[in-house]
Amino acid sequence: MCGIVAFVGTRAASPVLVEGLRKLEYRGYDSAGIAVHAGGEVAVVRAVGKLSNLDAALARTPLKGTVGIGHTRWATHGRPSEANAHPHVSGPVAVVHNGIIENHVALRHELEAAGVRFASDTDTEIVAHLVARALAAGSPSLEEAVASSLRLVTGAYAIAVISKTEPDVVVLAKDQSPLVLGIGDGELIAASDIPAILSTTRDVIFLEDGEMVVLRRTEKDGAFTFDARLRTVAGQPVVRPTKRIDWSPAQAEKGGFKHFMLKEIHEQPRAIEDTLRGRIDLAGGDVVSQELGLDDSVATSIDRVYFVACGTSAHAAMAGRYWVEALARVPSTVEIGSEVRYRDPVFTPRDLVIAVSQSGETSDTLAAVKAARAGGARVLAIANVLDSAIPRAADGAFYTHAGPEIGVASTKCFTTQLAALLLFAVWLGRRRGTLSPERAKFVLGALAHVPALMREALEDDASLRLLAKRHLKARDMLFLGRGIGFPIALEGALKVKEISYVHAEGYAAGEMKHGPIALIDDAMPVVVVCPRDDHFEKTASNLQEVRAREGQIIAVGTKGDEELASLVAKHDGDLVTVPACAPEVVHLVTVIPLQLLAYHMADLKGTDVDQPRNLAKTVTVE
Ligand code: G6P
Repeated sequence: MCGIVAFVGTRAASPVLVEGLRKLEYRGYDSAGIAVHAGGEVAVVRAVGKLSNLDAALARTPLKGTVGIGHTRWATHGRPSEANAHPHVSGPVAVVHNGIIENHVALRHELEAAGVRFASDTDTEIVAHLVARALAAGSPSLEEAVASSLRLVTGAYAIAVISKTEPDVVVLAKDQSPLVLGIGDGELIAASDIPAILSTTRDVIFLEDGEMVVLRRTEKDGAFTFDARLRTVAGQPVVRPTKRIDWSPAQAEKGGFKHFMLKEIHEQPRAIEDTLRGRIDLAGGDVVSQELGLDDSVATSIDRVYFVACGTSAHAAMAGRYWVEALARVPSTVEIGSEVRYRDPVFTPRDLVIAVSQSGETSDTLAAVKAARAGGARVLAIANVLDSAIPRAADGAFYTHAGPEIGVASTKCFTTQLAALLLFAVWLGRRRGTLSPERAKFVLGALAHVPALMREALEDDASLRLLAKRHLKARDMLFLGRGIGFPIALEGALKVKEISYVHAEGYAAGEMKHGPIALIDDAMPVVVVCPRDDHFEKTASNLQEVRAREGQIIAVGTKGDEELASLVAKHDGDLVTVPACAPEVVHLVTVIPLQLLAYHMADLKGTDVDQPRNLAKTVTVE
């Protein structure tokens, strides 16, 4: 996830672009840059780190000019550095891009074979070279050069392109990444999201996938006119009326949601799509190896997979363990980062340690990674922040592409970790011969379907708010699950604790009788995660045991499961359902109602949802 802005006007573009980027910092902030038409040239200024560094660079090198593009980056391909910061330049062309070019490896090879020299490690630079090549080959306009280049590209993009050859034009296009156009009074602006536009105009047009827009300024007798022409990449004209946005700037920053956490819960389908993009070979029933950052030989040379993580990431790791055991048949274990640190753990060169971390900076997980490497183990990092400390300390890194997560309580990073871990387990199973291509195809197909199922589950937002209201007085809650339902129960309880400050415990359903059952009375809501899977019958019997002690049942089951519906109705419980899906992936979806329940409980209580008391997003201390 990155942010792009483009401006065509008569006032200085650079402050408008930087101001727009500031509003998009939630989309990325590891580097930023702008390119402006100035004095017949395209002038570029870029800086690593937060936007204040770009401000400082622009103070040293001010850019005059009234037409330009800008970018704030969240690295996905290529570490955060000035060379990898956008805009990327090729000949007369400068490009900014949000998204992931799936066929970047093949295109890069092709361009390099034709003598193109790359200045960065990014997938975006490919687009700059393609457009420059099309112009050099006689493309009649920047617009056509961009259109023909995009026909070669697969993946997700919102791009803005300028070229020295057309100083009054910006060409933008989008496919699967957001892009919104703002029609101002005597100026045009476009950006990844509305907040970047609001100080210029409230009249907007949302572009659809496969569409382009050409922003053009024309001078006649000293007066300027402005035109924004929509078309498809294929060349069909598009006509769409503007919409007036009446959100306040604060609302706009959160995409109209009340909190970042709620926005991020709703972003999960897109985050999963981005995490899977370019990594699944459905026809071959496999995971694209080069994306994993590990040599194939590692798969067959290990005797154990040892997961280390903290907090929510540890819950994802627990699910990873189930998948690795079931699909790849490798003995696996999960350890909390801090406990690895304070034991005297035994690692060997036949261990593969998987460090799971949203931030890639958590001190305890990093210490565990160092201990593992000291013991000769190989380490794979699963992280959301490119080139952060844990991936740097590891042998390989597999990134979740959730984009920055602002809410302290992790949501989209959790589910993208689950997706990454399932991909890893399939990769491992295929290489160890424990998973047939047919079964891998089935699992990967089910995973690819998860975003659609999540969208369906998210539609229940309003009924989960009602459910939260009904249980708002609870002082304690219990969450139960079996199999991967167990880490999901732990995660549901953690979400409630973190943001609504209600005491909540997650338990393996089978452990209920070994203690927590003593706590159950009529004041105790018990959330039971029991979708239709191999564990259903056993978990359903826990429901009856809860009810026998007068606990209030909240069952999370499968849509259309009549048996569960009548059981819950008989016991006066609440039923939350998720769409039916393959058992291998169902818990990427069962967690959604738990996140929403926790969110609404906290919001109804009026707590600081995005920054809960005493918690930090990244814990870099012991
Ligand atoms: C903090 C955050 C949690 C997170 C944990 C691990 O406690 O508040 O949301 O799960 O750290 O962080 P990591 O960045 O390693 O996933």
